[in-house]
Amino acid sequence: MNILHIDCSPRPESYSRQLSAAIVQKLLEVVPGASISRRDFSAAPLPHAAPDYATTLSSPATLAAPLRGALDLSEVLIREVEAADVIVIGTPMHNLTVPSVFKAWIDQILRAGRTFMSTPVGKMGMLSDRPVFICIASGGVFAGDRANQPDFLTPYLSEVLGSIGLKTLQFFPLQATAFLDRDQATSAMDNALATIDLTVMAKARRPVTVKGA
Ligand SMILES: Cc1cc2nc3c(=O)[nH]c(=O)nc-3n(C[C@H](O)[C@H](O)[C@H](O)COP(=O)(O)O)c2cc1C
Repeated sequence: MNILHIDCSPRPESYSRQLSAAIVQKLLEVVPGASISRRDFSAAPLPHAAPDYATTLSSPATLAAPLRGALDLSEVLIREVEAADVIVIGTPMHNLTVPSVFKAWIDQILRAGRTFMSTPVGKMGMLSDRPVFICIASGGVFAGDRANQPDFLTPYLSEVLGSIGLKTLQFFPLQATAFLDRDQATSAMDNALATIDLTVMAKARRPVTVKGA
């Protein structure tokens, strides 16, 4: 089994990093020996969409005759997703949605004719589904009774990942990090981790049945 592990936070002591690492650890417990592909968009950010890439994506005609090398990075990143049996993402909420380093990845993996088809009723995913575990850390509260800001992150990620065929998503929100002391943070992370549903591993690219899950 291959796990694609993505982190986006610029903070070394990041909660979303700690949570995504804990999820990966949990997966390694149920599938020992799984390999891990790593993308750290803070340590190694992707470039924003380059002129040749944007020009190639600008119409069906230009996509049919791509500029030389324009799709290379996109192809590498899409193949990483295709090779993953399961994907684990750690991301902060930045200004109500995903940080721009993560958006740069999204801009490379959503590609017409490659990961989705454009139809009159919207995008249709071309990738096979697989579990995606998404750990979100936010300084304030965006879900539940105490929410004091809108959430453009969860619905946005559900939509973009769903549009390429990734529909089995589990979100692990860790909220109000600005107000947590060390003990509260540990218990919030334990609580978030406890909500994991490993039965979805049956939907992995190479399905895994987790006993007792
Ligand atoms: C540029 C920036 C924008 C942020 N915007 C929000 C926001 O819109 N809502 C929120 O609740 N927290 C916001 N925060 C706080 C982070 O979500 C919070 O510190 C979170 O714990 C960061 O994730 P991490 O712990 O994985 O680094 C922002 C932080 C930064 C640096």
